[in-house]
Amino acid sequence: MTTALVPGTASADADDLAVWPLSARRLPDGDVMVGGVPLTEVAHRFDTPAYVLDESEVRARCRVYRAAFPDADVMYAAKAFLCRAVIRWVHEEGLGLDVCSAGELELAVTAGFPPERIIMHGNAKSPRDLETALRLGAGRIVIDSPSEIARLAASVGPQDHRRVMLRVTPGVLAGGHEKIRTGTDGQKFGLSLADGSAEHAVARILSQPQLRLTGLHCHIGSQITEVEPYVTSLRRVVDLMARIRDLHGIILPELDMGGGHGVPYRPGERALDRSALARELRATLSSACAAAGLDVPRLVVEPGRAITGPAGVALYRVLAVKRTGGQMFVAVDGGMSDNPRPALYGARYTPRLIGRRSCAAPTTATVAGRHCEAGDVLAADVELPGDIRPGDLLAVPVAGAYHLSMASGYNMVGRPPVVAVTDGSARLLVRRETLDDFRGRDVGE
Ligand code: LLP
Repeated sequence: MTTALVPGTASADADDLAVWPLSARRLPDGDVMVGGVPLTEVAHRFDTPAYVLDESEVRARCRVYRAAFPDADVMYAAKAFLCRAVIRWVHEEGLGLDVCSAGELELAVTAGFPPERIIMHGNAKSPRDLETALRLGAGRIVIDSPSEIARLAASVGPQDHRRVMLRVTPGVLAGGHEKIRTGTDGQKFGLSLADGSAEHAVARILSQPQLRLTGLHCHIGSQITEVEPYVTSLRRVVDLMARIRDLHGIILPELDMGGGHGVPYRPGERALDRSALARELRATLSSACAAAGLDVPRLVVEPGRAITGPAGVALYRVLAVKRTGGQMFVAVDGGMSDNPRPALYGARYTPRLIGRRSCAAPTTATVAGRHCEAGDVLAADVELPGDIRPGDLLAVPVAGAYHLSMASGYNMVGRPPVVAVTDGSARLLVRRETLDDFRGRDVGE
């Protein structure tokens, strides 16, 4: 199919696709094409709500990381969004994987991902998580609590050994929302550098012959847009590496600085500057290690959102429009069951009418979901054409991370499908959840 592009795009909306996948193009009829596929066509073929994932955008983002961190291991954080296609793409692009459950791990390994390229996290690993990590041979297990140490060593058995890291908390405040800040004491992840619990855990790990401590891990939060907190954290972690050398005579060969790299959700918002991050981490690591007389460890980073987030677009159909109590509500056929982020973190998005051109003056509206709570709002106070009406399609960019991975079965609406678009063709990656799926799990009388 050939589709004409809008010639000489008006400057007024020149950057309204700024946070969309790079392949996004306006079409003359008001549609937007992503990966060469008009979104109305996706809605028509796969129904709504639906999630579109631009394969080339995911791959390009992997490549940007490989280029920015040529000497580091880049591990995609599976929690952002995982399915077998994404597992294949990130593997083909040379990334490793960070997983935090037996489910993510098993899906990856059974899809052909090499287990030695996988890091297993979790502040509360279940027996099944640990058994799966050991059975499938996850490359690193990141210890997050002292109780894991003896438990893991006992499961490994006397004749074997496993490579582990220790998650530490550097005492650095960073992250886009209180609920996703993990760099300070007083939250559940890691062991404190400040109060000595990290150092104590290191001694305990080193006393277990079944465990080989390869390095320290530090993930300070998510949706971080400044480089500085990473640099401060890295310095503090290197200080502990030096103490470990002094106390135990070993030099740890790896340092994992986690993910958390922020992306813009709306035009004009900041992204973390990846090249600056790579440059500053490398420079600080060399100087801090030189000052401490340490060999420079191999750096590991774990971006999730920055790989898949901006590659995804959510598509909704407008079901109801009403003006009441001085506010205009545009209610769509999805909501907090496919995107809990606005309700959880007050996340803001910029939905866009697609599929028809409107000459109506813009109006301020609240895009609400279809679920049974007042907090089910996808985008409050956004500009939409004043003639928005039931049947219209809305597209929400930057929907590729932490939407479907956090989706729920609320109201038995069912989780939307994921459709990959690339080079002008669309294919289903994950099918829609149906009533039969709900029924199938409901086994009691
Ligand atoms: N590594 C570890 C150990 C993590 O816990 C996380 C995210 C990442 C890497 C990847 O972080 P990213 O690069 O994606 O920011 N649901 C929240 C985000 C939670 C992040 C949890 N951990 C949201 O929707 O904003």
